[in-house]
Amino acid sequence: KIVSLIGVPTDIGAGARGASMGPEALRVAGLIPALQGHGLQVLDRGNLSGPANPWQPPVEGYRHLPEVVQWNQATHEAVYAELAAGHLPIMLGGDHCLGIGSISAVARWCREQGKKLRVLWLDAHADFNTNELTPSGNVHGMPVAVLCGYGPKELVEIGGTVPAIKPGVVRQIGIRSVDQGEKRFVHEVGLEVFDMRYIDEMGMRHTMELALGLMDPNTHLHVSFDVDFLDPEIAPGVGTTVPGGPTYREAQLCMEMIADTGLLGSLDVVELNPALDVRNKTADLAVDLIESLFGKSTLMRKDR
Ligand code: ARG
Ligand code: MN
Ligand code: MN
Ligand code: MN
Repeated sequence: KIVSLIGVPTDIGAGARGASMGPEALRVAGLIPALQGHGLQVLDRGNLSGPANPWQPPVEGYRHLPEVVQWNQATHEAVYAELAAGHLPIMLGGDHCLGIGSISAVARWCREQGKKLRVLWLDAHADFNTNELTPSGNVHGMPVAVLCGYGPKELVEIGGTVPAIKPGVVRQIGIRSVDQGEKRFVHEVGLEVFDMRYIDEMGMRHTMELALGLMDPNTHLHVSFDVDFLDPEIAPGVGTTVPGGPTYREAQLCMEMIADTGLLGSLDVVELNPALDVRNKTADLAVDLIESLFGKSTLMRKDR
């Protein structure tokens, strides 16, 4: 299996500067040898380029919309090209607004190939705001809504088909911060959310069994991993920490159960912010978890 790394060094959709340094921090933490250690061939495609962050207040509820569009168009093309080449793209963000470009490309590929799509959204946040609901104007709080067709024309049309995905393909895990209006909208469209309350009560194992349920060999599984999914005690290097996230063990189990499906087809690793990290420990942890996602386990699991 060939995996392709696509660095997208921008914080254009975030509320703190620094996620633009995420791709390099993941490389420094040893992402490439870690993947090679699991028998994968790794193509590092380097970093995409795009406009600088103008750091302006919102205009009609969006900060930096033209720049967000440009970065996402570039991301869409790069991710689509890797899928078309038969590779497994790993998009290294950058902030989570880039999920628009990445997942719209995956959805387009799946439509063309007649594959089913499942999107696992690992995050502290639902990222289901619109320009009317957002408290911040930061587009990294909006990608799921945009992918489902709710957002500005330039963004919802990035993949050609509108909406890029139906809410029913998404499973959100680890959610613990949803804004007031966003909460109502999540319920209105019926997004399937396994929040921290659910994980506390039912456990990560049962949560993942449901989130990964009803897939078949024709399913393309996309994982969008916002590093703020993790508890900030173990992962401080993100711009929008929310206490009470999954522990190290819970996060490992989550990744291992995804690996066991054998269906992982593409991945985003976003919101890592080295400017807020401590000796790159959050990047190190992300690399550890990505290893599990690609099948690292202590023993051979004969039962799988
Ligand atoms: N809900 C908040 C907002 O809309 C925070 C979003 C955080 N999103 C993220 N990808 N870290 O501004
Ligand atoms: Mn988040
Ligand atoms: Mn997010
Ligand atoms: Mn390691």
